[in-house]
Amino acid sequence: MSKSSSNSPGGSLKKAERFSSSGFILAAIGSSVGLGNMWKFPYITGEHGGAAFFLLFIVCLIVVGLPVLLAEMTIGRGGRGNAATSLFNLTGNKYWKWFGALSVLTAFLIMSYYAVVAGWTFQYTLDSLTGGLSHKGMDYEAHFNDFAGGLMPVFWQAVVMLICGYVVARGISGGIEKFNKILIPGFLIILLVLMARSLTLPGAAEGVEFFLKPDFAKLDSESVLVALGHAFFSLSLGMGCMLTYGSYVKKEQSLGKATIAIGIGDLGYAFIAGLIIFPTVFSYGLQPDKGVGLAFMALPAAFSQMPFGAFFGGLFFILLAIAALTSAVSILEVPVAFAMTQWKWSRRKAASIVASVCFVLGIPAALSVTGSLSGFLIFGKTVFDWFDFSTAYLLMPIGGLVVTLFTGYAWKRAGEEAGLAGFWYRAWMVALRYVAPLLILVVLLYSLFVKPV
Ligand code: TRP
Repeated sequence: MSKSSSNSPGGSLKKAERFSSSGFILAAIGSSVGLGNMWKFPYITGEHGGAAFFLLFIVCLIVVGLPVLLAEMTIGRGGRGNAATSLFNLTGNKYWKWFGALSVLTAFLIMSYYAVVAGWTFQYTLDSLTGGLSHKGMDYEAHFNDFAGGLMPVFWQAVVMLICGYVVARGISGGIEKFNKILIPGFLIILLVLMARSLTLPGAAEGVEFFLKPDFAKLDSESVLVALGHAFFSLSLGMGCMLTYGSYVKKEQSLGKATIAIGIGDLGYAFIAGLIIFPTVFSYGLQPDKGVGLAFMALPAAFSQMPFGAFFGGLFFILLAIAALTSAVSILEVPVAFAMTQWKWSRRKAASIVASVCFVLGIPAALSVTGSLSGFLIFGKTVFDWFDFSTAYLLMPIGGLVVTLFTGYAWKRAGEEAGLAGFWYRAWMVALRYVAPLLILVVLLYSLFVKPV
């Protein structure tokens, strides 16, 4: 234990950095509301039975997502360390530390490709506002492939890293909290403007119907896995992100209330995103596509036909950019917090080095979408796809398992730290000991051996 004694509680953060109460809620919502809400949630909802899937997603959120979210924040605040040392601080067991350290690796990998996509939104914002996306007869797929195949994505990825590195280097209250306090309200206003626009388009009802009409026949076992996986990704779980943010929360703050606020915030943003995307796409007779195709091909095509489309399209990509940036900052904070305690680096040094390493790691990801490395396949997947697959389907479920098992079995005082007793404590423990680990294990095995969801 001698070598690690500097990681004992209290010794792990030099100057105790703390969020204000509202700052923490905003930052956590900023982390959870990201590209996942904007381009994945609406699509999977439409595909898996609309309102029926939405209800299923809410159940997954309540039964697995929120208990794990509360567990991550509780470990962070109780252990007052980073994703790795918090687990050690609470039990004195060095093996837990190594399990926790896995999530630092996950964060590195996620950050490297997430910043690439965030960078695309910058280019598309510029192009929308300057009319570069509204030429008559434009082929949006070819346009995207051209763009993603060039070097500009690497440039924009560098810009994203610079912004995130700068924000994280400024610290918790002066950096991350301030950043979210400025961007999240702006985000909400843009969201409402775009929702008003899309819902009043001719034929909007068809899009709303695709998104929300309940069709229970479309629900199957795979829907459950998709809903579960997305509950995890959407709440930023399984890689120590909420744990690290939790380590900056004041003792007086109620983590139970924070859990509910973050859950409602995440769900609300996803819901409104659906009400923007589908009416817009359907109104112009386009088909909703998945992921990249939806945000960078179908939607620009729709905006190009809309009156004042350059303006609304620009707003939409600003929205995506904000969603991506506030999430990216939270991802970057995980390895930065780790480097600060592990190697005693200053926050500035840690932020610069980690952001630089992520930038370098992200270059092959950026070039492998349609660029020079797109033909370089490892077991049939590009580098970009590997970053996505290995994190979303392997490392994050493992990270989630570590958190549930740690809180459910290894750490005896979690209830006290979370401020839960009686019924709520028992319900939380049932979720963490049995329900969540079992379901996560099923997702993990299914995506490993049956078919990646
Ligand atoms: N939740 C974000 C989204 O919906 C992405 C994200 C941010 C994330 N931090 C994370 C995903 C941590 C997993 C783990 O896009």
